[in-house]
Amino acid sequence: MSVSSGRKFSLLPMLGHTKGKRSPVTCALKCDNACSGEVCNSSPNGYFRDIASATMSRRAALGFGAAGALAVVFGNAVTSAEPAAAGGPGLAAAAKTGFGKSKLQFTAIAPVDAAVDAFTVPAGFSWQPIIRWGDPLFNDSPAFDVDRQSAAAQGRQFGYNNDYTDILALDAKGRRAVLFTNHEYTNESIMLPAGFDAAETRAIGRAAHGLTVVELERKNKNQPWRYVQGAPLNRRFLSDTSYELTGPAAGSALVTTVADPAGRTIKGTLGNCSGGTTPWGTILSGEENFNGYFVSAGTSAADKRYGLTSKPTARQWELDDPRFDTRNPGYANESNRFGWIVEVDPQDPTSTPKKHSAMGRFKHEGANVIVAASGHVVAYMGDDERFDYLYKFVSKDKYRPGTTAADRRHNMTLLSDGDLFVAKFGGDSPAAEIDGSGKLPADGAFDGAGEWLPLVVGGKSMVSGMSVEEVLVYTRLAADKVGPTKMDRCEDVQPSLHTGKVYVACTNNTDRGKTGKEGATEVNPRTLNRDGHIVEITETGDQTSTKFNWNLLMVCGDPAKNTSAYFAGFPASQVSPISCPDNLAFDSVGNLWISTDGAPSSTGYADGLFKVTLAGPERGRVEQFLAVPRDAETCGPIIHDEERHVFVAVQHPGEDGSFETQNSRFPDYVAAGATPKPGQARIPRPSVVQVFRADD
Ligand code: FEO
Ligand code: CA
Ligand code: CA
Ligand code: CA
Repeated sequence: MSVSSGRKFSLLPMLGHTKGKRSPVTCALKCDNACSGEVCNSSPNGYFRDIASATMSRRAALGFGAAGALAVVFGNAVTSAEPAAAGGPGLAAAAKTGFGKSKLQFTAIAPVDAAVDAFTVPAGFSWQPIIRWGDPLFNDSPAFDVDRQSAAAQGRQFGYNNDYTDILALDAKGRRAVLFTNHEYTNESIMLPAGFDAAETRAIGRAAHGLTVVELERKNKNQPWRYVQGAPLNRRFLSDTSYELTGPAAGSALVTTVADPAGRTIKGTLGNCSGGTTPWGTILSGEENFNGYFVSAGTSAADKRYGLTSKPTARQWELDDPRFDTRNPGYANESNRFGWIVEVDPQDPTSTPKKHSAMGRFKHEGANVIVAASGHVVAYMGDDERFDYLYKFVSKDKYRPGTTAADRRHNMTLLSDGDLFVAKFGGDSPAAEIDGSGKLPADGAFDGAGEWLPLVVGGKSMVSGMSVEEVLVYTRLAADKVGPTKMDRCEDVQPSLHTGKVYVACTNNTDRGKTGKEGATEVNPRTLNRDGHIVEITETGDQTSTKFNWNLLMVCGDPAKNTSAYFAGFPASQVSPISCPDNLAFDSVGNLWISTDGAPSSTGYADGLFKVTLAGPERGRVEQFLAVPRDAETCGPIIHDEERHVFVAVQHPGEDGSFETQNSRFPDYVAAGATPKPGQARIPRPSVVQVFRADD
C-alpha cells in the first residue's frame, strides 16, 4: 500500500448534508453520514399528544402538579468567554440514603442561543478547563503549539474530542484522583491549516484518537482539580496499543488477520463514545462509529448492516495502513475487531486493555454496570443507530465485593463470559402490543411490559442458524432474527443505584414514520422524532430478570415550540427546554443528569447539561445547569454534588468553522490581537471542564 504525501486533506467529498440539518461536519466526521435522509423539524404528533394529555390529567388527579400557569423562572447566568482563574457499588448501599436534598443548589440558567461562543454556568459558579486538547501529559511532552503540530507531539499530549469521562479518587483525603477520557474522533479542518502535509495530517489524526488516563491533584476538596504532567498513572492509548479480545469470539476465524492469526490481540480503538465505570474501578468505553474508518467491499449482509462501504474514508488512513481497507489480502476481518466494549484499568499503567466479545458487537454508545441482588453483574448497552436496539449483558460469574487484589482480578473477568439479550418493548396501545390484543392504553399512560430476548445463554447461541461467535461478531444480524424493538437511537443506558430503574436516552430519530420506515410505537411515540425521549425501565425481580415494565419519563423538546414535549406530567411551562439527550449520570441523592448533543439543530439553543428530579412532586422537573460553546456537544457528565463540583467534556467546539475562520475560541479565549500565553491557542480545543462554586 503506497503512502500518499503532500495531498491536501479535504472533507468536501464527505459532506453529505445540506444547510438546515445537523452540522454536515459532525455527520461526516463522527458518524460517517449515518443519517443520510432528510431531517425535519419537530412536529406535534396527535397520537402522542392525546396520550400525554391523559397522563397529565391522571397526574393531576393524584395530586401532583397539574399544568400550571406559572412560567419557568431562570436565574442569572455567568455567560463567560473567560474561564475562572486557576485555582461504591451496588444498589443496596445507595438506596439506603434515599432521595434527599443535594448540596449542589442552583437556579436554572436560561437557554443560550446556539450561536453564542461561551461556556455558561449558573450565578455563583465558575468554570475552568482541567485539561485541553494538546496539553502535555508526560515529562518529555512538548507544550501545545498550534503552529508546530506533529504526530509525535500529539501522541504525548491529550487527544481530541473528549467524550466519556470519569474521575476516580486515589486517596482518602480527596487530594489525588485519576481522570479517564476517550477521544471519539478528529476534525482536521479546524485543527490544522489548509495545505498542511496530508500524510502528517493523517498521522496527527490517528494520534489524537484513542484514550487518555491522567492523574489529578488539588490542595483540598474545595479546590478545582489540576492535572499532573508526568504523573505515574498518565497514559495515552494510541493506534498501536494492544487490546486483548476476551470471550467466546476471541480466537474465532471471524476475527483473525494476517497480523493477528491468533485473533486475540487488536491494535487500537476507534470511535469511542460514551462509557461507564464499573463497581470494581475500571472504565468501560464504547466503540461506536468504527465503520467510518474502513473501506470494505460493502456488499455482504454484514457490511451493509454495519454501514461499511467501498467509498474512501473521511480521514483516508487506508492510504497508510492496509488494515483500514478490508479488501486487502489478510485483512478481511479487520473491521470485525472494532465495535466492542473496551475495559481499561486506570490504576495500572502497564495493564492490557480488553475488548469484550461476550457483550456483542454493534455501534456501542457505552455500557453501564450494576450488581444485581443475585451478585451477577448486569450491563445495559445501546446501539446508537436509527431503528437499532437496546441490549443487556448478564455475567456468568458473581461479583466479589471485597477489595483485595484477588477480588479485583476476579471482577475484571466478569464481562468476559455471560448471557446477552436484546429488548422487546410491549405497550398497551395498538402500535406496540406484544400479544396482538390491540387494546388501547387502559390508563392513558405510555407504559407497558417488555422482555429481554435471549441471543446467547449459558454459552449457547439462541439464534437459529448462527453460532455463538457469529452472534457476538454480527450481533445486529443476530438480533434482527429475534424481533426486538427498533429504537430511536439509544445513547447512554444507565441504571439508578438508588432505585435500580434503568434510564434509556433515545436521542432522536428523524426517520421514524417516513415512507418505508416504521411509524410511531408506544415506546418511540413520535414520528420525525427530532428531540428524543427518555425511557424508564423497571426490571421485574432483580436486574437479571428477562421481564420488565417500562414507561416514558420524558419526551423532549422546547415546550414553547413543541406541544408534544412531556416531562412525567410536570408542567411543561416550568421546565428548561431540552432536546437530543445523549449522556446520563446520577448525583449522590438520585437525581438524573442529562447532557445533550444536537439541540442547536432542533431548538436553536446551545447544548447543555440538565438536572432532572425523579422522585416526589417535582418528578419530571428539568433544570438547565450549563451550556457549552458554539457548535459543541456536552459529554461525559460527572456530578460530585457533595463537593458542589460538576464536570463535563466539551466536544467539538467550533466544529463548523475552518482553521482560518474559526467558530469558537473556547477555552483559552485569547483576545483578538493578543499573543497567546505559552500553551494557549486561538483555535478551539475540546476540553474537560470543571464547574465549581465561585465562593469555595
Ligand atoms: Fe457518539 Fe451515540 O454518540
Ligand atoms: Ca454520545
Ligand atoms: Ca453515563
Ligand atoms: Ca453524541
